[in-house]
Amino acid sequence: MRTNLVVAIDGYSSCGKSTIAKALAKKLGFIYVDSGAMYRAVTLYFLRNQVDVHQEAAVAAALAQIELNFHARDYQTHITLNGEEVSEEIRQMPVANFVSTVASLKPVRVEMVRQQQQMAAVKNIVMDGRDIGTAVFPDAPVKLFMTADPMVRAQRRFDELRSKGDQQVSLEEVYESLKQRDYADTTRVESPLIQAADAVVLDNTYLSPDEQLEFAFQLIRSKQPAEEVTITYRDTTY
Ligand code: CDP
Repeated sequence: MRTNLVVAIDGYSSCGKSTIAKALAKKLGFIYVDSGAMYRAVTLYFLRNQVDVHQEAAVAAALAQIELNFHARDYQTHITLNGEEVSEEIRQMPVANFVSTVASLKPVRVEMVRQQQQMAAVKNIVMDGRDIGTAVFPDAPVKLFMTADPMVRAQRRFDELRSKGDQQVSLEEVYESLKQRDYADTTRVESPLIQAADAVVLDNTYLSPDEQLEFAFQLIRSKQPAEEVTITYRDTTY
């Protein structure tokens, strides 16, 4: 039986889930798990190796070849795919445009969820994604469902890509990709993005990072006694 504390954060693309999840993990001394990075890293492997998503055997064989790890250093998380750091590459448009297809495959989801549940067996975690409060940790004591205006979200992601040196991408392209991903994520058969009945909605269109952090922190405090959130964050691999 799991005794570690899980904060589950779900929501649409680019609505600031990772910003709030990282800040909460830092404040609480928890491990941050970016479940989207796992689906993105699998997608990168599929792209590089031209895995045919329509061939069940090819998908299974590919999954067996993939090893993912997170490394936390200085409160930044880095993900490795078979030992190679891919944190930057998985944010680029080729992966963004294909990840929802890969994430809709049942064998991919089964394997990712298994690994995610294992992480919570040993650590207190903040995990963000699409199905964390519904499928991965339906019994999580704290669940947030995040949303924001689509154009505001596209602008944020565009700014992020530009700040990381991607000068090719246009705002329209980012907006279209985001809309398509929202559609695919909310309408897929396997674990679609939906608000858990017991999740608290946080629309951060007009909130600053500090304001949204305060909102989430108070929510956690209201549900969890302070003495249970005192583990110390260490540099670690998980
Ligand atoms: O960064 P952004 O919020 O746009 O997305 P992400 O969290 O990196 O997730 C990328 C994609 O992975 C999503 O659009 C989903 O298709 C998929 N995903 C999922 O299916 N389940 C999760 N728990 C997390 C991500």
